[in-house]
Amino acid sequence: MKDYQLVSRVSAEELDKQLDELADRINRDYEGKCLLLIGILKGAFMFLADLARRISLPVEVDFVRLTSYGNKTESSGVIRITKDVEMDIQGKHVLVVEDIVDTGTTLAWYLDHLQNYQPESVKVCALIDKLERRETEVPIDYVCLRLEKGFLVGYGLDFSEKHRNLPGIYEVEFDK
Ligand code: PRP
Repeated sequence: MKDYQLVSRVSAEELDKQLDELADRINRDYEGKCLLLIGILKGAFMFLADLARRISLPVEVDFVRLTSYGNKTESSGVIRITKDVEMDIQGKHVLVVEDIVDTGTTLAWYLDHLQNYQPESVKVCALIDKLERRETEVPIDYVCLRLEKGFLVGYGLDFSEKHRNLPGIYEVEFDK
């Protein structure tokens, strides 16, 4: 038996609208350039797919999977790459696509790591910025949604690997 309910926070229609606006900005900012989108697995897979199809520039796509030791509420700050990108990054305009920036630990580490490969530029695009949870300062150039509160699932985000497939974003409300 489930001991929680899902409450809608952002509908698929609203996401569509926000993504259109975000992609417009990206298309304008990178006009005349090629872009390498690096999605951080697993959460970013749906956001990246929907964003990529709205980008009118030449786009390359790759993915990285990062894990953080320690549990989710007390990140140890030790990050490990469990699946690296396979493309050459040197000289490319990289846009890192993340689902949630929470404490910022994962992204800060990865941005630092990317510099070893000498990209031409690196920017960050996040589906959700949870600014109030930030522990490590990290630059986010494009934010789709600012949602401070709640355990969020759907549109790539999971609760014990479930609900990633939902087309909108929901908050998990646990039964009392
Ligand atoms: C989530 C999210 C970020 C990270 C953010 O990934 O996708 O990568 O946590 O947390 P931080 O800002 O506190 O470092 P998660 O480990 O849940 O993996 P998943 O994307 O595969 O679900």
